Amino acid sequence: MLTMKASFPVARPRRLRRNNSIRDLVRETALRVEDLVYPLFVIPGIQQRETVAFMPGVERLSPDLAVELCVGAWRSGVKAVLLFGLPEHKDPQGRSAWEDGPVQQALRLIRQAAPGLMLITDVCLCQYAEHGHCGVLCGDGVDNDRTLALLAKVALSHARAGADVVAPAAMMDGQVAAIRRALDADGFQHVSVMSYAVKYASAFYGPFRDAANSAPAGGDRKHYQMDPANLREAMREAELDAAEGADFLMVKPAMVYLDVLRKLRDRFDLPMAAYNVSGEYAMVKAAAANGWIDERSVVLETLLSMKRAGADMIISYHALDATRWLQET
Ligand code: PBG
Ligand code: ZN
Repeated sequence: MLTMKASFPVARPRRLRRNNSIRDLVRETALRVEDLVYPLFVIPGIQQRETVAFMPGVERLSPDLAVELCVGAWRSGVKAVLLFGLPEHKDPQGRSAWEDGPVQQALRLIRQAAPGLMLITDVCLCQYAEHGHCGVLCGDGVDNDRTLALLAKVALSHARAGADVVAPAAMMDGQVAAIRRALDADGFQHVSVMSYAVKYASAFYGPFRDAANSAPAGGDRKHYQMDPANLREAMREAELDAAEGADFLMVKPAMVYLDVLRKLRDRFDLPMAAYNVSGEYAMVKAAAANGWIDERSVVLETLLSMKRAGADMIISYHALDATRWLQET
């Protein structure tokens, strides 16, 4: 690499910051509406709308209202949504995850109303099982291999209802391969798998667990989600998922894991998503509500940092606001 020898007073980086146009010209990273994915919580019923205590601006919606929101998002330029479901009843196995529930119903309705919108679904058992864990319980743990078959059933039920992308979130070993095999065997070769490849056991999921009613009834998720201290292990997780046929990789959370995003981007050529999670959203909303920060500037800077770190797309509860702000500028 050619090194720049010039130094002050010849070299003056401020020359390239003199006005808006020159700053536009030399900008290295852009945040676009097309980069954003909006997550939403779907509940049973008709005309049901519930606020989410720790996530101001986020609502749980019944399928009919979720469709309205999605049509609006699509018209404003949003390309993708990520659906989470809350079932009518929980049971010991989480059967309602693959039966005809709010997510499957919403998928069929949105598919019709906004055919171009990319429909991504979260594939997990924790919202649906009484114990609140992401897989099948065995003793005081989670049975990895018995969980795989169930995750595949969930993914297949989403594909049949019209999902474009299924996103396994359970952090079970082999989940991408199991889902890929099940999709292919049923004629869904065209459905992509977005792997929550690198999902840390994070305290930043707190508001989501309240919103999705998915907190584990006992224990924690440290025996399947990753230790926040580990970066090399993240590379191993990503490598395995890439080998199992993942079409996208994801890093979650995003804000305090930008180093992980960067390292993954440098090592892997798959499209990569950053998940700007509920706790990250809640912190920004709380500070903004107090007038301590400027919400718009902080959100756009935060999302931009994820692009700069190497994300191709960002899943964020700020996506609809950010879309509006990006279109105003
Ligand atoms: C379920 C799931 C969680 C999130 C997405 N899918 C919670 C968890 O793993 O405990 C977190 C999303 C967020 O915090 O915004 N497996
Ligand atoms: Zn889960």
